[in-house]
Amino acid sequence: MSVFELLESRRAIRNYENREVEREKIERLLEAATLAPNDRMREPWGFFVIQGEAKERYKELALAYLQERFPTKPHLIESSIKVVTNTPVMIAVTSDIAKNEADSKDNEYAVCCAIHSMWLAAQELDLGFVWRTRGVGLVHDQRLHDFIGAPEEKKTVGMIFLGYPDAKEIEEAKPKKRTPFVEKTVWL
Ligand SMILES: Cc1cc2nc3c(=O)[nH]c(=O)nc-3n(C[C@H](O)[C@H](O)[C@H](O)COP(=O)(O)O)c2cc1C
Repeated sequence: MSVFELLESRRAIRNYENREVEREKIERLLEAATLAPNDRMREPWGFFVIQGEAKERYKELALAYLQERFPTKPHLIESSIKVVTNTPVMIAVTSDIAKNEADSKDNEYAVCCAIHSMWLAAQELDLGFVWRTRGVGLVHDQRLHDFIGAPEEKKTVGMIFLGYPDAKEIEEAKPKKRTPFVEKTVWL
């Protein structure tokens, strides 16, 4: 598959088969991430793989967060927790906070590149993948940081949800309409 074909067919996949993901495949994704461009080779990424018993503990954390955030929406809480239950693997991805703001920003940009590389690699490995920040992604909640045991000088940028894709979702996954680049581009 050409790079363009890969880019055109990549989709956010949020439903998975009830099937383990082989460790080798997870390792291939992590390897893909480390190939991403990054300023001065600071390699600012960190990965925290959550599965099995750790996922059960994560569920408790997500439940506490959701109950606090949506106290009047029990159905939303239930469906959100189901998402965690039905996801075989999650990976929290962190970025190193540097001594100055510019480097910290560049680090985050590099980590975003790394996550996108993983997303494309997942496709080649027949895995479904979505990068979540909101809701059960918990990215903007300090509790996630404490849960993964990341040091102060790391910031969580993304929570990846991953598994073998549900066949129905793949069938139905349609490309989201994109605004043509001409409307986003100024030629100077
Ligand atoms: C930084 C970032 C944060 C995202 N957060 C969420 C999220 O919290 N929940 C979710 O379901 N999808 C999330 N997504 C996935 C987007 O919703 C998805 O990529 C977008 O709808 C375009 O669809 P596509 O990836 O299938 O082309 C996120 C994507 C990015 C890049």
